[in-house]
Amino acid sequence: MPLSDDIVFRPFRVADAEALLSWATTPDQLLQWVGPRFTFPLDERQLASYADTTGEHRYVISAVVSDGTVVGHAELTVLPEHELGQIGRFAVAPYARGDGVGTKLMDWLVARAFDELSLHRLELVVFSFNEPALRLYKNAGFREEGLALHARKASDGYWDLIYMGLLKS
Ligand SMILES: CC(C)(COP(=O)(O)OP(=O)(O)OC[C@H]1O[C@@H](n2cnc3c(N)ncnc32)[C@H](O)[C@@H]1OP(=O)(O)O)[C@@H](O)C(=O)NCCC(=O)NCCS
Repeated sequence: MPLSDDIVFRPFRVADAEALLSWATTPDQLLQWVGPRFTFPLDERQLASYADTTGEHRYVISAVVSDGTVVGHAELTVLPEHELGQIGRFAVAPYARGDGVGTKLMDWLVARAFDELSLHRLELVVFSFNEPALRLYKNAGFREEGLALHARKASDGYWDLIYMGLLKS
């Protein structure tokens, strides 16, 4: 059975932090995943204060398989007055990649955003070299809207960011 058939989504808990700590093993991997929000190495202190930021318009989500293992993570920040949702920190555990987990997590976020929260637009950013993420987002219907050159500085130089958006159909 593909891992993606055995997944539920629920709010992130501080206890989920331990699973996430091993997902980024270099500063560049952490930058690719979360942007400049955290410093490397990720630790429970940073994730505990991050969990505290969950609020009425901010949803931090864990994708969990039936044995309780956390295999996916994402956040959705809502600007209600603009009917806008911003997706970030989107990742799947390294050992679970390529099995449809990310696609299922994005499908869940999109359905929640448009059907439950009645948003009009979703947006996100992704580094231009990140082929799996770009493919996943395009499959979900996101379109490239812009390119920010040299937006972030990594160990091998500056990275470009692609801006993507998806409007409610
Ligand atoms: C991006 C990421 C979330 C994808 O999750 P995933 O569960 O592996 O994705 P899926 O299995 O649902 O696959 C999504 C698509 O990417 C493709 N894909 C997977 N690995 C790929 C690779 N190495 N190169 C190119 N495409 C790839 C899949 O084939 C699939 O496309 P398809 O359905 O058209 O065949 C995961 O790779 C990840 O966590 N990366 C590190 C963190 C990160 O970069 N997050 C994005 C921040 S913007």
